[in-house]
Amino acid sequence: MTQSKTWSQRFESALHPAIARFNASIGFDIELIEYDLTGSVAHAKMLAKTGIITPEEGDRLVEGLEQIRQEYREGKFVPGIDAEDVHFAVERRLTELVGDVGKKLHTARSRNDQVGTDTRLYLRDRICRIREKLRDFQGILLDLAESHIETLIPGYTHLQRAQPVSLAHHLLAYFEMAQRDWERLGEIYQRVNISPLGSGALAGTTFPIDRRYTAELLGFGGVYANSLDGVSDRDFAVEFLAAASLIMVHLSRLSEEMILWASEEFGFIRLTDSCATGSSIMPQKKNPDVPELVRGKTGRVFGHLQGMLVLMKALPLAYNKDLQEDKEAIFDAVKTVEACLEAMAILLAEGIEFKTDRLAGAVNEDFSNATDVADYLATKGVPFREAYNLVGKVVKTSLAAGKLLKDLTLEEWQALHPQFAADIYDAIAPRQVVAARNSLGGTGFEQIRLALGNARERWGRT
Ligand code: ARG
Repeated sequence: MTQSKTWSQRFESALHPAIARFNASIGFDIELIEYDLTGSVAHAKMLAKTGIITPEEGDRLVEGLEQIRQEYREGKFVPGIDAEDVHFAVERRLTELVGDVGKKLHTARSRNDQVGTDTRLYLRDRICRIREKLRDFQGILLDLAESHIETLIPGYTHLQRAQPVSLAHHLLAYFEMAQRDWERLGEIYQRVNISPLGSGALAGTTFPIDRRYTAELLGFGGVYANSLDGVSDRDFAVEFLAAASLIMVHLSRLSEEMILWASEEFGFIRLTDSCATGSSIMPQKKNPDVPELVRGKTGRVFGHLQGMLVLMKALPLAYNKDLQEDKEAIFDAVKTVEACLEAMAILLAEGIEFKTDRLAGAVNEDFSNATDVADYLATKGVPFREAYNLVGKVVKTSLAAGKLLKDLTLEEWQALHPQFAADIYDAIAPRQVVAARNSLGGTGFEQIRLALGNARERWGRT
């Protein structure tokens, strides 16, 4: 490449070919092309409106830019490495198409405010897409919860059986996480949606531009108040990557549970053929590749967040070429989150079946009703701590005798404490244990029905 096309006469020789490759971002920032064109159209219109160029020149620029859009969509515009980046690629093609007037497009603008504009326009769109995917994922969680209100599943703390819960309750916990993700992205959108265009290279411009006009044309909610901040701020990218990381945390936790549940040891779910894979050597195997991949992909999104923070931490104002490194992180995080949300939605909708018989057996065969025995005595006036100690003893002797609490005879119960009566059996039956937890936000069936209605209402309100 000869530098004369892009750099001023100050340069006498061309870039070393390896350095040209090293410097170039066209390999990945082509992803921004539609936003670059849209941003340039707004800029061209503003130049014409403010009289910096003539209306005819403005029209020519806009036509040329739209023609490039057409060429790109038809697969006919494929800039090579010599273009350096998407901004130069567009400007060069524009000049080929419309002649010398194309060289006026970059008046009162720098690639620094341009790339910031493009990235925000791109991210704004993707945030909307991710929020839609979160909504789809939540919808599937709601449907699944609806059909499993009465299905009981062991609830765990420390991965030790703790108290049984409604499966719907468990699924709705993930609905709530996704709801926060959805809300968080909405808040971040507000800060992505600010226009840096018109900040120039760093200090503004000598031309009588109208920043509010371009912001309005591009649908931005406001303009950066400070041009140095405008070209060097990437807080919005850090915030997005943090939100993306949290989405991945939530998906990865769900994945981990699915992987455990699909194991022989838990056996709570069956993987259907549409979402599981086999082994190339062990014919009996059915592997949970989808949740494993989601769990695995979580790491790279965290990595992008960390990378972005480190990228920013010592950057002097204003623009530095380091900032070119923000794009691959953002693009990859966007693609990863979108793909994972989609895969998890499909997995929930058709990739798993709950083995309800196994689940019913599981909640029947453990001591997860022990708290309820203590609660039973406490309701009858025995101080809770005393009841708790007593039940601890009961569990110990039952374990030694190879019995479950439901197997103790009424005589045995009464020998332990005179307050025990025949209704103890009802009180410790798994269904009753769940139903009784009717406190706000608890797993009691009545609460679940309320929670489902409330979740649906929030979900539908967009
Ligand atoms: N490709 C560059 C980036 O992604 C565009 C801005 C370049 N600006 C500059 N002053 N070299 O950040």
